[in-house]
Amino acid sequence: MSCPEAYQSVMEADLLFRPLVPQDLPSVLDIELQGYSHPWSEAVFLDCFKDSYHLWAACRAESLVGYAVVAYMVDEAHLLNICMHPRVRGKGIGRQLLRHVLAAASREGMSQLLLEVRASNESAIALYEDEGFREIGRRPGYYPSANGREDARVMVLRFSQ
Ligand SMILES: CC(C)(COP(=O)(O)OP(=O)(O)OC[C@H]1O[C@@H](n2cnc3c(N)ncnc32)[C@H](O)[C@@H]1OP(=O)(O)O)[C@@H](O)C(=O)NCCC(=O)NCCS
Repeated sequence: MSCPEAYQSVMEADLLFRPLVPQDLPSVLDIELQGYSHPWSEAVFLDCFKDSYHLWAACRAESLVGYAVVAYMVDEAHLLNICMHPRVRGKGIGRQLLRHVLAAASREGMSQLLLEVRASNESAIALYEDEGFREIGRRPGYYPSANGREDARVMVLRFSQ
């Protein structure tokens, strides 16, 4: 789907981004369990509700369909988690949420957004590359996996000044 078509369907679908609140956690955990082989626990999410963290909910027709967690460290934003409910994937919402995160980080004085992604996560890597991220390194064995450990690709998008 070309970008303009994707974003038209997102707009028609009544999409809203708002700050995530602790009351969202049951919906978040439901999506998290469906999104990852090694999902975050409720305690990990609760630990992210602090000043240097920015948590976003993507809502469609008032239902939470995805979220993103970003940590700000000095002038660098670090995308720690972005996940969409399986039933809404492939509709352009993940890209919209990523762009929302990037716009907020840039507006709030960050100079770049950094992330780690599993080397096998082809759909996420395709999205990041398409949005202009480039790989700056690898962290060998960073993630647990079914076969032991898996490398992380470290990717960055620098904001133009
Ligand atoms: C990664 C994720 C957030 C993308 O969200 P999404 O709403 O499905 O993505 P979009 O519909 O906005 O797609 C954006 C781009 O991602 C890539 N993409 C998405 N799904 C894909 C798939 N199944 N195969 C290959 N590329 C895919 C494409 O480049 C796509 O652009 P296109 O539609 O122009 O081809 C979503 O797949 C997800 O929640 N995955 C599970 C959690 C996860 O892996 N998070 C990333 C951790 S680093």
